[in-house]
Amino acid sequence: MEFIKLNNGIEMPMEGFGVFQVPDGSMTQKAVEDAISCGYRLIDTAAAYMNEEAVGRAIAAKISDGTVKREDLFITTKVWVQDAGEKETLAAFEASIKKLGLDYLDLYLIHQPMGDYYGSWRAMEKLYGDGKIRAIGVCNMYPHVLMDFCMHNRVRPAVNQVELHPFFQQEKAIKTMRELGVVPEAWGPFAEGKHGIFQNPMIMSIGAKYGKTPAQTILRWNIQRGVVVIPKSVHKDRMEQNMSIWDFRLSDEDMKEMSALDLDHSEIVNHFDPEFVKMIGGWKVH
Ligand SMILES: NC(=O)c1ccc[n+]([C@@H]2O[C@H](COP(=O)([O-])OP(=O)(O)OC[C@H]3O[C@@H](n4cnc5c(N)ncnc54)[C@H](OP(=O)(O)O)[C@@H]3O)[C@@H](O)[C@H]2O)c1
Repeated sequence: MEFIKLNNGIEMPMEGFGVFQVPDGSMTQKAVEDAISCGYRLIDTAAAYMNEEAVGRAIAAKISDGTVKREDLFITTKVWVQDAGEKETLAAFEASIKKLGLDYLDLYLIHQPMGDYYGSWRAMEKLYGDGKIRAIGVCNMYPHVLMDFCMHNRVRPAVNQVELHPFFQQEKAIKTMRELGVVPEAWGPFAEGKHGIFQNPMIMSIGAKYGKTPAQTILRWNIQRGVVVIPKSVHKDRMEQNMSIWDFRLSDEDMKEMSALDLDHSEIVNHFDPEFVKMIGGWKVH
């Protein structure tokens, strides 16, 4: 495992485990327990995933069986659009850490830059100042939004979690993040399985040179671009496979070849579609 230093000096694991679309209850609990057993220390959830309680139970179980200590873990959750605004975000944070069974959070993210997310940031700056969160960040900020946000806030986001995979590489957005000192974190590092990503001939042939699977090749490619990855899987063998990416390095030629896969747009979400914004803005999580 490698770590990346955030703009406030905190070290963040370069690979973590995402739990989007893992059903709440025993399935999430088992997945997170398995992930921690496989060596994952960063767990990425969100109020909107409706599984924070099960994540919390898994964390408690792995601490009590001696696998990890709280300080070894890097727990991320996110405030949903419904709770945008200062007072609302303070309450949402309390609800999230209660569900997670934690007394502090490692990373708290604005899930979508929608509604009063500047108000949310005021609350997050306060919680960060009070030591209840080790780092604060954002998600889904396109470069112009991130630039504006960084110019008009006291605390700069430590992380911007955006869709980053071989079919949506966002090189320019990463460049802006780098210039601003914001660490890029990839959601959907496998494009959520779309585009036949695990059977892509180019990815397969690059991986074969190193005896690695397409999944390992894809994760390694993002890591070598300085991007944190949080792959999701409910299968323990895949969790192990996805963690086994620290013993090889793609050549510069392989990295360059991968750039040909970029479609330069998302086929998962369209933040520029008013209907999508309307749907997200009306989504209730409590
Ligand atoms: N901030 C945001 O707006 C946002 C949006 C989306 C996601 N996220 C975060 O990013 C995390 C990752 O993204 P994601 O869950 O959307 O999608 P993803 O990680 O790109 O893809 C997950 C899919 O890949 C499959 N898979 C995983 N490892 C595999 C392997 N080695 N071989 C073959 N198939 C494999 C999984 O299947 P199985 O589970 O059946 O193995 C699942 O269908 C999320 O869990 C969440 O924490 C954040």
